[in-house]
Amino acid sequence: MKPLSQNSVLAKQNYLIPITKRPEICFVRGKGHYLYDQNDKGYLDWVQGWAVNTLGHSPQVMQQALIKQSAQLINPGPAFYNQPMLELAELLCENSKFDEVFFTNSGAEANEGAIKLARKWGQKNKQGAFKVITFDHSFHGRTLATMSATGKEAFAPLFEPKVSGFTKVPYNNLAATEAAIDDQTVAIMLELIQGEAGVIPADPAFVAGLNVLCKQHNILLIVDEVQTGIGRTGSLFAYQYFQAEPHIMTLGKGLGGGVPIAAMVVDKAISCFDYGDQGGTYNGNPLMCAVSTAVVQEVLAEGFLEQVNQVSDYFCQQLSVLAEEFGLGATRGSGLLLAMNTGQLSAPGIVELAREAGLLLNAPREDSLRFMPALTLTEKEVDEGIALLADLLSELIKPEHEQETGLLAGDMVSENRCDD
Ligand SMILES: Cc1ncc(COP(=O)(O)O)c(C=O)c1O
Repeated sequence: MKPLSQNSVLAKQNYLIPITKRPEICFVRGKGHYLYDQNDKGYLDWVQGWAVNTLGHSPQVMQQALIKQSAQLINPGPAFYNQPMLELAELLCENSKFDEVFFTNSGAEANEGAIKLARKWGQKNKQGAFKVITFDHSFHGRTLATMSATGKEAFAPLFEPKVSGFTKVPYNNLAATEAAIDDQTVAIMLELIQGEAGVIPADPAFVAGLNVLCKQHNILLIVDEVQTGIGRTGSLFAYQYFQAEPHIMTLGKGLGGGVPIAAMVVDKAISCFDYGDQGGTYNGNPLMCAVSTAVVQEVLAEGFLEQVNQVSDYFCQQLSVLAEEFGLGATRGSGLLLAMNTGQLSAPGIVELAREAGLLLNAPREDSLRFMPALTLTEKEVDEGIALLADLLSELIKPEHEQETGLLAGDMVSENRCDD
């Protein structure tokens, strides 16, 4: 396909409903760790479709799975079994503590399913208990119920009235969580590392406490692993690292490695949908399931996760060196879901300058950069990105009389930030 000219990009953008501020470039192709725009400018990509492209852009295994499956069977319909659906469900259950899977098309839809399943379980087992405890600053999606579950302040006034039945409590606060439990509580739902909030990990003692609370009060624990699952944090699933004991886990993003597939994975003991309660036209379609199987098999291959952890250590070391040199803050997160505090400097401002310099980054907060590269990252790309960042930071924090623009936190408006 012939790349569009800059003018065509600008003219055609008017046909899209504007839902976020996008830079005036149009990506044409991607390979591994790099994206290329309409002018064939290359960018080292540390956003990777928002922590989605597990194996980077257009990896061979995904191409082959797509071609092979599309030649064989694309869509028999959700009311029939198909082979990739069965194989992927088995793969996820055999490599986790769970027994059964429901496939969806997006993380929000998987979470919606988890909320529905918890409510159904409450109807059948807890005299109609339906309330779900969620956490401040959490992010669970953009359907009406998942926006209602989300603890993002900016969502609070939107699309009223919200879906009722969500009680928000401060993250990592066990006493507040316990205090919020009443007879109508059916589940606690959390991200073990809050990604959109700026990569904020759960405290292990808090997670251990949630395990106990759930047992004591006979309520379900739902882990939203849409962002943390499939190796992103260095273990296949974050619940394993945090020793959480969930009854329901939701997956998305990295599960498809770039194609739209997500899943709700559950313990058999609480799996209580009746026929007709849940479904969807594209759920479990063979094309997406075949690609996802290829991605998950790569992540399960011997040495893959060890390599993720090794490169993560190297990345963290290099970020610390950078932080020391330029007076930035600490690095947090785990595996290849990392963030760094930018101190006085505007993180959205750095994102813009980095993009101009050929590095794609994200700023979930005014003072934080988030790094979510492909899990196939090597030290070579770490060195390349850190060198680009170092050049940019030395320009930014030159002595005041040499500076053209100040870029203090708060200078760039938050519309430069896309939140999920
Ligand atoms: C933790 C978490 N849950 C749910 C979602 C929503 O997933 P999707 O955008 O696929 O609906 C996201 C997206 O960023 C997420 O990070």
